[in-house]
Amino acid sequence: MKKTVYKKLNQIQKKLVCSAIKMLPTAYNPYSHFAVGAALLSSNNKIITGSNVENASYGLTICAERSALVRANAEGIRLIKKIAIVGQTAEKITGPCGACRQMIFEAAQISNQNIEIIMSDTKKGKVVIAKIEELLPLAFGPKNLKVNLKKYR
Ligand code: THU
Repeated sequence: MKKTVYKKLNQIQKKLVCSAIKMLPTAYNPYSHFAVGAALLSSNNKIITGSNVENASYGLTICAERSALVRANAEGIRLIKKIAIVGQTAEKITGPCGACRQMIFEAAQISNQNIEIIMSDTKKGKVVIAKIEELLPLAFGPKNLKVNLKKYR
């Protein structure tokens, strides 16, 4: 896990953070009023974005990260290298929730990549970079079930 600042990010990391910030106004968040934007980078260098989608049955809410992953899947993209996450807080980063960590871990095993997670505040002041295996140690994934992931790559 690394604490850094926006200006020290490389071009693609900056692009991912900005793409996640651009998604904030698209959040459907009438209950929490908390917007989250996510932007992932696929292995073929496409950026796919998502935002949170809430529901009157609160537990059905889909986070920004999972929206982006599902949107990528619909576009035939399952191999992922990085994901940026920005929650609607100006001086604090937002880390992915437990459910999102688990779904990012699934993508990591499909992709054979310890996916990089870039977390920034909306002001692009504070940035934390971590790998999924740090955020979800000893995780359970498709490899535990010895499934043949090749078919899904
Ligand atoms: N949320 C995300 O979109 N991603 C996370 O990782 C944390 C939480 C959303 C879900 C809900 O719409 C709102 O933030 C408040 O929990």
